[in-house]
Amino acid sequence: MAKLATNTDLPSGLETFKQQDWSSAYCNVEKECSNIQLDLIKGEIPKKLSGIFYKNGPGVLERNGQWVHHPFDGDGMIASINFQNGKAKFTNRFIRTKEWIEEEKAGEFLYRGVFGTKKPGGAISNAFDLRLKNIANTNVIKLGNELLALWEAASPYSLDPETLETHGISNINGALKANEPFSAHPRFDPGHHKEPRMVSFSVKTGPKSTIRLMEFSIQGQNAGSLLSDRKDTFKGFAFLHDFAITPNWAIFLQNAIDFNPLPFILGQKGAAQCLKSKPNGQGKFLLIPRDCGKFANKPPQIFDAPNGFVFHHLNAYEKKQEVVIDSIFYKDFPSIGPEEDFREINFNELPEGILKRCRINLLTNKIECEILSKQCCEFAMVNPNKQGLPAKYSWMATAAKKSGNGPLQQVKKLNLINNETHYWNAGSKGFLNEPIMVPNNPAIEEDDGWILSLIWNGESKTSELIILQASDLSHQATLKLPIKIPYGLHGSWVNLNQTKSIELT
Ligand SMILES: [Fe+2]
Repeated sequence: MAKLATNTDLPSGLETFKQQDWSSAYCNVEKECSNIQLDLIKGEIPKKLSGIFYKNGPGVLERNGQWVHHPFDGDGMIASINFQNGKAKFTNRFIRTKEWIEEEKAGEFLYRGVFGTKKPGGAISNAFDLRLKNIANTNVIKLGNELLALWEAASPYSLDPETLETHGISNINGALKANEPFSAHPRFDPGHHKEPRMVSFSVKTGPKSTIRLMEFSIQGQNAGSLLSDRKDTFKGFAFLHDFAITPNWAIFLQNAIDFNPLPFILGQKGAAQCLKSKPNGQGKFLLIPRDCGKFANKPPQIFDAPNGFVFHHLNAYEKKQEVVIDSIFYKDFPSIGPEEDFREINFNELPEGILKRCRINLLTNKIECEILSKQCCEFAMVNPNKQGLPAKYSWMATAAKKSGNGPLQQVKKLNLINNETHYWNAGSKGFLNEPIMVPNNPAIEEDDGWILSLIWNGESKTSELIILQASDLSHQATLKLPIKIPYGLHGSWVNLNQTKSIELT
């Protein structure tokens, strides 16, 4: 693993990796660990790094010789790494969902997966079985005394933040109705309205789509209590994975996409495989006023969005009459067809994620867009204290090559003002997960802190955790994990140091 301070991009088409090294990460998590002290491979854990890194992702990819059709169908497994006094302890647990328990007992898949995993027995066995398996595998956040494992098509599962023991389905202190879905992408308002808040949503979709926007207290005795709640209905089907916030707005991008449920009903495809880009469709930005902001109780505003498909946004902010949002755009909805093996995907045939900035002028209704970075990226974030504000820096995982899609092999720091970049390269056999930016506490500069990411080491076939300095991506430490962890989805950081951060405004 080498740190490179300069751009190491290769021309499009030249591969920097072997498919086998990349796909070797896909395996079942074999065991559960409790408070295992992690060994350092190199470097030192910064003593000021004090808190818990939580990570969610698929932990079961195969049962009885049958592989999931897409890793997103794998049951959720939470890993936590607790940092204190320059040492790190590791714990991991499968989430004991009702369906995980049933399938563990049966030793085979009993449920269909949204991304195409079928029950044994072919189409006849799968047809008309429209049950959703809550796999709780997409994100993990701490809210009050609960650790919540999130999957956007169902209610969260509540876990013990320390032992990771599963408590059961959570309705978040009564905020959610029975079986109400809850987004896996909450946004944390660092305190635009005095107290910090968690903003999240649920969506009920069909020919019309209703977004329920919820804000929760995250501090003190009331942590986890619902502060505000509004519902807005929009025309058309809405696939909404992520959103962004500013002090006054919640911003969604309604992709131009259609849902044809027939192949799902007939047992031929998973529900997500029935999503298709709408030819000549028009995506929309949906701006919903936040109840704590200056447009509270006003109706939403709707604007035409540029072509493309968006899973994730980086950040958003307000500047005079403009709402500015940075998002990762794909040319089209990337999916894995019914006959394809996800371990053999050809990255060159997948659209790449390009970071774009859209300026939405609330007075003129005009939108101006510019490319911030053409290099294929995912999992981008700003300093959490800059959520909803103009940020100078962003951090993301990128492909190693300059253009086209590829596995995530670099951490990139991008200066959003002058485009200056720093890279940390995981090497040809190193593959990244989502990098998390952890601010120093207290911090003076916006890029004062660390970057944490799980790595798959395709050479030793082991999982590692890397710690980089956020300012220049210099390597601080590599820790060896006691289990192999397949590529995961999202994670979070919970600070244990009670010192209040200096506000970065
Ligand atoms: Fe996501």
